[in-house]
Amino acid sequence: MPKVTLSSLFKKKSDGRKITCLTAYDAPVASLIDASGIDIVLVGDSVGSAALGFDNTLSVTISDMLHHLKAVRRAVKDALLVCDMPMSSFTGGTAYEDASALFAAGAEAVKIEGTAHISLIEDLVKKGMPVMGHLGFTPQTDSTPSVKGRSEDSAAELVKNAALLEKAGVFAVVLELVERSAAENLTSSSRVPTIGIGSGPHCDGQVLVINDVIGMTLGKVPRFAKQYADVKSVISSAVRDFRRDVEELKYPS
Ligand code: KIV
Repeated sequence: MPKVTLSSLFKKKSDGRKITCLTAYDAPVASLIDASGIDIVLVGDSVGSAALGFDNTLSVTISDMLHHLKAVRRAVKDALLVCDMPMSSFTGGTAYEDASALFAAGAEAVKIEGTAHISLIEDLVKKGMPVMGHLGFTPQTDSTPSVKGRSEDSAAELVKNAALLEKAGVFAVVLELVERSAAENLTSSSRVPTIGIGSGPHCDGQVLVINDVIGMTLGKVPRFAKQYADVKSVISSAVRDFRRDVEELKYPS
């Protein structure tokens, strides 16, 4: 598979070919995703709920992100590797150093939620550190999921923020829980690819959390997610079989 680059993503948008993105938090799953030809692997701060047992993303630290990024980096060869900046990088005032640490650990881009850190985004992009934006529902600052862009004001706010991000130099924008016609409008007016999650079919690409895709979600599965496998059942059944075999002296034979 050829290496995915920022220009190959722009080319996909201009050719009207969809971009695919999945999250990954460890090397075995990341290597399967990479080998399947997915364009972007995202080490999301969703690692908090997907792998670390937290209720949300807010407790995730830069050390957590670096730990999981390094594991995923060892496995990803062709996909573009993007890593989330955790909330604590902003509340702790260490955003620039933390972004640099993520690039030093092998991220090819970082993702930053919202527009509150626009000057940081500009600065990183100017210094050659690519940034992916994230608009709509932004879990680091919105406590409950809700669809954005339903009212005229909310749609206009999204257009304004997308323009700010584009001007700051982001190479793509995640649109999370954006009303589908607002997402369609943002996609057609944006020079950079839009990657939707729960935002309808008109974005330039789609992203999902890998746990939702394979049936390994801890807790509630988002309504928009599509589950393609039932890995929870596979693991439970293998574990039960192992226990039975040991208890019944069938393993080791
Ligand atoms: O953290 C994450 O996994 C994300 C995706 C839902 C886009 O930000």
